[in-house]
Amino acid sequence: MSKLVGFIGTGSMGRTLVEALIRSEALRPSEILISNRTRSKAQALAESHPGIRIAESNAELVREADWVFLCIKPRDYREVLDEIGIWAGKDQMMISITSPVMIRDLEAVLPSKIAKIIPSITHAVLDGTCLFIPGSRLTLQDREELLRLLSAIGTPLEIDERHCRVASDLASCGPAFLAHFLEQLARTAGEVTGLPRETAIPLVIQMARGTARMLTEGGFSLESLQERVAVPGGITQEGLNLLEREFDPVLNRLFRLTHAKFAEDVEKVRQSLHEAESKG
Ligand SMILES: NC(=O)c1ccc[n+]([C@@H]2O[C@H](COP(=O)([O-])OP(=O)(O)OC[C@H]3O[C@@H](n4cnc5c(N)ncnc54)[C@H](OP(=O)(O)O)[C@@H]3O)[C@@H](O)[C@H]2O)c1
Repeated sequence: MSKLVGFIGTGSMGRTLVEALIRSEALRPSEILISNRTRSKAQALAESHPGIRIAESNAELVREADWVFLCIKPRDYREVLDEIGIWAGKDQMMISITSPVMIRDLEAVLPSKIAKIIPSITHAVLDGTCLFIPGSRLTLQDREELLRLLSAIGTPLEIDERHCRVASDLASCGPAFLAHFLEQLARTAGEVTGLPRETAIPLVIQMARGTARMLTEGGFSLESLQERVAVPGGITQEGLNLLEREFDPVLNRLFRLTHAKFAEDVEKVRQSLHEAESKG
């Protein structure tokens, strides 16, 4: 790629993105410029991938990079935007990875082209879905180039911003939810029956891997897989009936909870960005 790509924030997701893009050979280390509030974290990443450069500041990174990934938490946007705002150009693309920071709010404070992506930890193994929401200033070429980059580390999926939270719950929080479910499955199996943890954990992990393959390569849908395993009147069907009764209300509460927290975060971010705007 003939672009210099900057990453502000090399925490969990910033680092995952940088490493996945290098591993997939979508970017060479020499095409990457990074900055992080705690410099030692950026240094550790640069040392693992010789060729990555560390910018002296976020402002310097924005002065140099063609594209800038903003891999920071919602509460840090105001400070970063204050630093980079005057250097951001209209031909530059700023790519936010933070769901409660709305595209229209970024377009109000930056002259640049804005996109939002919601990556997934599964990009570490070059898999999973990367949600993509284009801002109003992206050209067709910008979209194609960004989608090409994202395709190297997973499957990009364009969505409407109003579905960003629920799609993030599935694609991005999902790995943690699924890992939690598997962990609970193994733990409670042990508590109820005495099955040793060292037996239960590989059982659930290998079961999950096999199930994912059946669904992606084995020609099964979620419904047909359940039907195939749960013969009428059998043990699996009894288990599925219980899960449907008891588990659905929990999932219902889960989505209500993530959306309530999201609405709070959107409002907090919006207030902080508009305060910054009125000061500027
Ligand atoms: N983790 C995921 O699976 C995931 C998935 C999709 C989207 N996201 C989104 O990604 C964003 C980052 O999440 P994360 O899990 O990567 O958080 P994180 O591990 O806390 O990383 C955030 C990084 O931003 C740095 N930072 C904060 N203020 C900065 C500033 N002024 N200048 C430069 N760097 C600054 C922090 O530096 P320090 O080292 O000083 O703390 C930290 O390394 C969040 O908005 C999250 O919602 C995360």
